[in-house]
Amino acid sequence: MRLALSFILAYLIGSIPSGVWVGQWFFHQDIRQAGSHNIGTTNAYRVLGPVGGTIVLIMDILKGTLGASLPILLGIPQHWLVLIVGLAAVAGHTFSIFIGFKGGKAVATSAGICLAYDWHFFLIACAVFLSLVLLTSMVSVASTLGMGIITVWSLFYHDWLLTAVATCLWVVFLVRHKDNFARIKAGTENMVPFGLGQYL
Ligand code: G3P
Repeated sequence: MRLALSFILAYLIGSIPSGVWVGQWFFHQDIRQAGSHNIGTTNAYRVLGPVGGTIVLIMDILKGTLGASLPILLGIPQHWLVLIVGLAAVAGHTFSIFIGFKGGKAVATSAGICLAYDWHFFLIACAVFLSLVLLTSMVSVASTLGMGIITVWSLFYHDWLLTAVATCLWVVFLVRHKDNFARIKAGTENMVPFGLGQYL
């Protein structure tokens, strides 16, 4: 019963469309109508600016962390369930019940699961991601390539469930970034205004 409740609540928490609601409530903008049209952190920074983007980043990470932590919060002792229930939060973010089962690309929410599971691993993931952003100036490349590197990195942990869930998230990232890949191919992908990639 508590496990079923964990899954349901994690999905509902993951479903909170932070980018849409923060944009509409505080900035009177619908980020689905501007920039890349994505509801995630990158487009929130792009459309709402640094304050709105940072609020969305924190909310999207916390959705993953809180959703994944529900088994522990509800008194279920198996720590590995964090990874499985965390996937329900990702499902909520990508197929949100609050916005017609549409959603984002699950990058920040996945980072939140990582934080709930093992903060060392979270810091490594952040370092890989930020390094790739600085190298490429493209968040989409940093997200998808970074998730691939992190999936391979997880093999050193000898934790088959971590690697299985990382692989699953990598597939989600690749599928959800298909528009970005089309833009990269066409040479029209959005770049952040820092890093080396903008000069290449
Ligand atoms: O936040 C997801 C990121 O990888 C790409 O976002 O808005 O540039 O498509 P965006």
